[in-house]
Amino acid sequence: MSEPQKAFSEMTKAKDKIIVPLDVETAGEARKIIDEIGNEVGAYKIGLQLFTSAGAGFVREVVASGVKLFLDVKFHDIPNTVAKASIEVARLGVWMFNLHALGGSEMMRRTLEEVAEFCEKEKLQRPKIIAVTVLTSSTDETLAETGIGGKVNEQVLNLAELTAKCGLDGVVASPLETALIRENIENKEFLIVTPGIRPSFATNDDQKRVMTPKEAVESGSDYLVIGRPITKAQDKLAAVKRILAEIEE
Ligand code: C5P
Repeated sequence: MSEPQKAFSEMTKAKDKIIVPLDVETAGEARKIIDEIGNEVGAYKIGLQLFTSAGAGFVREVVASGVKLFLDVKFHDIPNTVAKASIEVARLGVWMFNLHALGGSEMMRRTLEEVAEFCEKEKLQRPKIIAVTVLTSSTDETLAETGIGGKVNEQVLNLAELTAKCGLDGVVASPLETALIRENIENKEFLIVTPGIRPSFATNDDQKRVMTPKEAVESGSDYLVIGRPITKAQDKLAAVKRILAEIEE
């Protein structure tokens, strides 16, 4: 591959790693963000706020427009309920969705099995299913007050290992725990999706445990969820380009 070609392919790869969360109240605001940034990032994320306000209809609209969508629903319920809700998520045609690893192995295995079976029957691409380990807002004290002993990083690794054993596609974790997960999980295809990313030009907002995009990629993150540094920027596309340049430098 010639140098310019190589640079182009690396650029494409960096771009594909970025997921922009649509953390807004209305479908109209979300459409504006997608229109402005377009295909310059790999995917977009709809979380509980927008899903609750704009609903499944908006998810269908975004998917139909050709956008890769991560539905951040963080399911945690009895195995039957999560499996059946997940089939409905698969029916929406999203690229990826998640559940809480704390729901346990039966919940994760059953969800994977039922979604895979449904997608095969309906000839749909199975969405990637990833598990939340420990929320980045949780501390050792948060775990202790809910009766979970030990430290956050031990619990993250424990839940990441359980997720991998259940055959799920990956986990959501803080970038600070990415290297630990990478070192301990045999499956090198196991995806690690990390929020809590702050480019060198941005403020931390309320994120406490952050890394730059470059550091996160170097420590083994496959996908970086980067919100406010992009969505609150005056020129969102320029912010994306600065981030890509930082990753590549
Ligand atoms: O604006 P910012 O880059 O902080 O947005 C991060 C996104 O990642 C938000 O949508 C937030 O809900 C999500 N997230 C997070 N920490 C987690 C899981 C998800 O910040 N542990």
